[in-house]
Order: sequence, then C-alpha cells, then structure tokens
Amino acid sequence: MTPPAPLRVLALCLGNICRSPVAEALLRRELAAAGVEAVVDSAGTGDWHVGRPADPRSIDVARRHGLRLNGKARQLLRRDFADYDVILAMDSQNAAEARALAGTPGAASRVRLMRDFDPIAPGADVPDPYMGGKAGFESMFEMLERSAKEFARQAAAPEAEAQADRI
Ligand code: 4NP
Repeated sequence: MTPPAPLRVLALCLGNICRSPVAEALLRRELAAAGVEAVVDSAGTGDWHVGRPADPRSIDVARRHGLRLNGKARQLLRRDFADYDVILAMDSQNAAEARALAGTPGAASRVRLMRDFDPIAPGADVPDPYMGGKAGFESMFEMLERSAKEFARQAAAPEAEAQADRI
C-alpha cells in the first residue's frame, strides 16, 4: 500500500500578516503532533503587505506559545486551488473572496472556515485583530489553537480512507 500523499493546507486571511501566519504555524505543529504528514502555507486575499513579515503582535503571541513565524506575506493565487487540498479561511469574507477566485465549483468547495473546526463556536469568524490591542491577539491565538487541534484530530481520523475525506 502506498502511503497517503501529504495533506496540503493553506491558511487564508486578508493581509497574511496577523491571523493566517499564526494559523499556519499552529496547523503545522498540530498536524505533526497528530502524525499527519502535511504541507502548510498561508496567504492573504489582499496584496498590501506582500513580501512583509508577520505583524509584530502576531510574532509576539506566537513566540509566547513556543512558535516562530518566519514567513513573508503573499497573495492568494488561483493556482493555490490546484496546489492545496483545503483552504482554511479566517472569516466569511475571506472565504467568499476565495470562492469567487476559485473558478470551478470543485475548487470553491476546497474553501472552509478555520472555525468550522472550533468546538466552542463552529462556523464563527476569527475576528481581524489588526486595529485592536494585544488582548485581541491572545484571544485570536486561543481560537486558532482550538481549531487547529480539532482540524488535526479529524485529519488523523483512522476511518479516513482518502485525503479528501479527511477534512
Ligand atoms: P490579517 O489582518 O488579515 O489577519 O493579516 C489584517 C492585516 C492588515 C490589514 C487588514 C487585516 N490591512 O488592512 O492592512
């Protein structure tokens, strides 16, 4: 039996500097902890911050929880729908923009909300913390961590037979 191909996961927000870089790092950690081989990246629907590192407040909250953010912001591309099995949008606006870019219903169906996997508030948005204070980044981290753990748990579920059925 051939091993399953790595699960390819893209975290998506607006600027790719606050929410999705933290989601990316958490998904990478939780999928590895669950024993799921995965390729994880992040992107933004907007292009304002392309090439920049994550927001210092996201770097800080991640570091306090033992995670390093090393990526540079990039914009979502139509090609990402071929390159990733699932695109985890931080809020419903990010999801709508991604689905509009997807091109086909099959590609659009790869877009899910990150908090579809939050056991406490399934389907909620991860609020954009950009204009707020430090507390918003801490609560953002908590909702992302819960969601990433549940996503990884489902991805590792032994009854899953095909990559696409895992999520
Ligand atoms: P993010 O936060 O989508 O979580 O990266 C934002 C960062 C920057 C902007 C908006 C949201 N902005 O408008 O520049």
